[in-house]
Amino acid sequence: MMKQLTLTRPDDWHLHVRDGAVLKDVVPHTAERFGRAIIMPNLQPPCCTVDDAVHYRQRILEAVPEGVQFEPQMVLYARDNMTADDIYAAADSNIVRAVKLYPAGATTNSDSGVTDIRNIDQALAAMQEVGMPLLVHGEVTDADIDVFDREAMFIERILKPTVERFPELKVVFEHITTAQAAEFVQGADDRIAATMTVQHLLLNRNAIFEGGLRPHHYCLPVLKRERHREALLAAATSGNPRFFLGTDSAPHPQGKKESACGCAGIYTAFAGIEFYAEIFEQAGALDKLEAFASFNGPRFYGLPVNEESITLVREPWTIPDSFAFGDNERLVPLRAGETLQWRLQGSASE
Ligand code: DOR
Ligand code: ZN
Repeated sequence: MMKQLTLTRPDDWHLHVRDGAVLKDVVPHTAERFGRAIIMPNLQPPCCTVDDAVHYRQRILEAVPEGVQFEPQMVLYARDNMTADDIYAAADSNIVRAVKLYPAGATTNSDSGVTDIRNIDQALAAMQEVGMPLLVHGEVTDADIDVFDREAMFIERILKPTVERFPELKVVFEHITTAQAAEFVQGADDRIAATMTVQHLLLNRNAIFEGGLRPHHYCLPVLKRERHREALLAAATSGNPRFFLGTDSAPHPQGKKESACGCAGIYTAFAGIEFYAEIFEQAGALDKLEAFASFNGPRFYGLPVNEESITLVREPWTIPDSFAFGDNERLVPLRAGETLQWRLQGSASE
C-alpha cells in the first residue's frame, strides 16, 4: 500500500471563499494545498466588474498566510446587461480569467443572474473572440422541472444550442452531477471541459436522507443516484484531460445550514486534495490523480503548471466537528468528526 504521494501542486478550478471576516478562516485552507483557485463571484452584491474583481482579489490575498504562494483567479458574474466591452476590459485586466453564468434563481446569490442566455450574446461573442471561458452553473430553473432533472434538461435546452451558436466558445461545465453531463463532455470537442466536486464523486443522493435529513450533504446541483456517481467517477479516472478538479467548496454558517430552509453548499476546502486522493485510491486510480488535480486545469485555461509540489502521507486523522467562521459563527465541514486517510505533509493542522 502506498504510504506517501507527491504531486505537482494542484489547483482548485471552482471555489467559494465569500468575503469579509470569514476570508481569514477559509482562504488559508485552500492556499496551503492549492497554487491557484478560480474564485466564484456570487457575492452580495456580485463581483461584476474588473474593479470589483481587483478589490476582491486584494482582500483574498490579505487572508493568505505569510510565506504561502497563492494566486486567486478572478471571475466576473454575468448579468443580462453584460456587454462586449465588459469582456474586452476583463481580458485586458490580466486578473480576470473567466465569466460565470448563473441562470437567475438557480442557486445561492443568483437572483441577479442571467434570465435568458440570448441576453448576453454580445458578451459571449466577445469571449469567443478573446478566448475567455464561460463557466456554467448548468441547471434550468423552470418550476415544472424536477430538481433531479435540472442539469440534464440544461444540456438539451441551453448548453447544446449555445455551443452550436458559438462554435469556438470555451466552456467549463461546472460541478457536473449526471451521466448525461459526463457523456456530453466526452462527446464534445476540446474547448468543452468540466469540473467535478468531492461530494459528487463520493456520495449519492441517499446521503441527504441517511437516518434523517442531513443538511450538510445538501448542495446544488443536488446529489444524484448512484449510477450517476459511478459515471462521474469513471470519467474523472478515465484520463480524459477535459475533466479536472473543482471542489465547489461553499461555506455557510452552521445556523444557515441547520435551518428550516437551509442553504446549499458543502465545505471541503480544508482537505480539498486529501478527499480526492481517497476517492481516486478507492477507485484504484491513484495514478490518474495528478493529471486531474494538477495538469488538466492549467492546460484548458492555457496557464503553466505549478512548479512546486505537495506531499500527502497516509496518516489517518479525525476531521474537526467545526471550524471558526468569522467572529461569531461556526462552519461544519464535510464528514465532520470522521476519519480521513490522507494528510497533507507540513499542513497547519498537522
Ligand atoms: O451548493 C452550492 N453552493 N451550489 C452553488 O451553486 C452555489 C454554492 C454557494 O455559493 O453556496
Ligand atoms: Zn459553486
